[in-house]
Amino acid sequence: MKIAPSLLAADFAELAADIGRVESEADLLHVDCMDGHYVPNLSIGPPVVKSIRKHTALHLDCHLMVNNPQVLLAAFADAGADGCTVHVELGDPRPLFDEIRSLGMEVGLAFEPATPYDAVQPYLGDIDLLLVMSVKTGFGGQAFIPEVLDKARSARAEIDTRNLPVQIEIDGGIKTDTAAAAVAAGVDILVSGTGIFGGPDPAAAARTLREAAGAQ
Ligand code: DX5
Ligand code: ZN
Repeated sequence: MKIAPSLLAADFAELAADIGRVESEADLLHVDCMDGHYVPNLSIGPPVVKSIRKHTALHLDCHLMVNNPQVLLAAFADAGADGCTVHVELGDPRPLFDEIRSLGMEVGLAFEPATPYDAVQPYLGDIDLLLVMSVKTGFGGQAFIPEVLDKARSARAEIDTRNLPVQIEIDGGIKTDTAAAAVAAGVDILVSGTGIFGGPDPAAAARTLREAAGAQ
């Protein structure tokens, strides 16, 4: 089980300091990239990823909530992103997978709470990461939607049966009261924004989250 603090909940004027606060407790960093079109919010893009890259060696897991990921992928790779996750709701993701791989990054596929497992199932053999959204994308601080855990369980069963090298990540409303259920459903990576950066001690919050998830 891995912990991925979501920088969306960090102080954007203190990003390097906030990364430094969680670095020892984080397995990777989740970077939410929003374009104001796919979701009604704006956040981080490649120039900020490039700046972040100078301050950490952690894996930068970029979650692209944008309508046209194809025009940004090369910029994310140049900026030092380690992985890019695209949304299945945009249509056939295979051309994006090819581009992400050819740029040397890991391939992620995300699906919204309202999107069924069947929409991502055909692509399980092509990806490194399956991102199960447990809130509707766009904003941090929303309440966890427990019904998505059925989709995580379906993915876990299929990944194990087929012995696929795919990690399951969950994103949205992950806090001490929801982490254990996600891990029990077979999730490998817990993304947490306000659960980690919402209080005064992000490192302690990440440690507490790890304990609550039942991992060492
Ligand atoms: C929402 C983002 C999430 C967000 C999670 O669209 O994809 O990564 O940062 O925030 P919390 O953990 O506060 O729900
Ligand atoms: Zn995210």
